[in-house]
Amino acid sequence: MRDGVTIRTLTGAALEKAIPDLARLRVTVFAEFPYLYDGDDAYEARYLETYRQAEGAIVAGAFDGDLLVGAATGTPMLEHEAEFAAAFDGLGYDLSKLFYCGESVLLPAYRGRGIGHAFFDAREAHARALGATHCCFCAVVRPENHPARPADYRPLDTFWQKRGYRKLDGVTASYSWKDISEAQESSKVMQFWLRAL
Ligand SMILES: CC(C)(COP(=O)(O)OP(=O)(O)OC[C@H]1O[C@@H](n2cnc3c(N)ncnc32)[C@H](O)[C@@H]1OP(=O)(O)O)[C@@H](O)C(=O)NCCC(=O)NCCS
Repeated sequence: MRDGVTIRTLTGAALEKAIPDLARLRVTVFAEFPYLYDGDDAYEARYLETYRQAEGAIVAGAFDGDLLVGAATGTPMLEHEAEFAAAFDGLGYDLSKLFYCGESVLLPAYRGRGIGHAFFDAREAHARALGATHCCFCAVVRPENHPARPADYRPLDTFWQKRGYRKLDGVTASYSWKDISEAQESSKVMQFWLRAL
C-alpha cells in the first residue's frame, strides 16, 4: 500500500478482467510525449493478447479502491513478439533467461509516490522466480527537438539508471503505431536497456 494505492499482481481471471482497463490506461498515458500514441481498440486487443497468452506473464496493477490507476507488464522474452528477441541476436545472452518488462503506465495524479519503483520490484521478483538472469525493456527514441516535446519534459533515464539498467548501445527494435499527429502507423526506434538480476 502506497498512500492509499495497493499494488497487486494479476494473473488468470483477475488479469483477464483488468485487460479493458489496462487498454484504457495505455491509451490515456501513452497519448503523452514521448509515445504520442493514438490508441485504438483493435490495436490494444492485438497487443494485450501477448499477456493473456504468455504463461510467464505478469501484470502488476495499482489500485485506488477498485479503480485501476496504473499497471506494469512483463513476459519472458521468448514469450514476447519475436522481433524484440531478434534485437539480441548474436549478443551472447541466453534468451531463455531474459525477462522483458513491457510498459509502466500510471495516471499523472498518482506519480511521485514510488509506484514506478514498486512496478519494477514486482516484475524483477517475478523474473527471478522464473529463473531469469537479466531483465530488459525498451523505450521509444524521439529527437531532442521533437515539436511535441513539452518544455518541462524530464526523461526517465536517471530513474532507469538508478534501478541498475544501462542502455545497450546499438541494440534497438522497431515498433509501429500511429502517432496522434499522423494519418497512419509509422515505425519507431525502440532502444533497449538491460540489467543483470
Ligand atoms: C514511469 C512511471 C510509471 C513512473 O511512475 P512514478 O510512480 O511517478 O515513479 P516513482 O514515484 O517510483 O519515481 C521513480 C523515480 O523517477 C523519478 N521521476 C518521477 N517522475 C518523473 C518524471 N516525470 N520524469 C523523470 N523522472 C521522474 C522520481 O524522482 C523517482 O526517482 P528517485 O527514485 O530518485 O526518487 C510514470 O512516470 C508514468 O506512467 N510515465 C508515463 C509512461 C512512461 O513513460 N512509462 C515508461 C515507459 S513504458
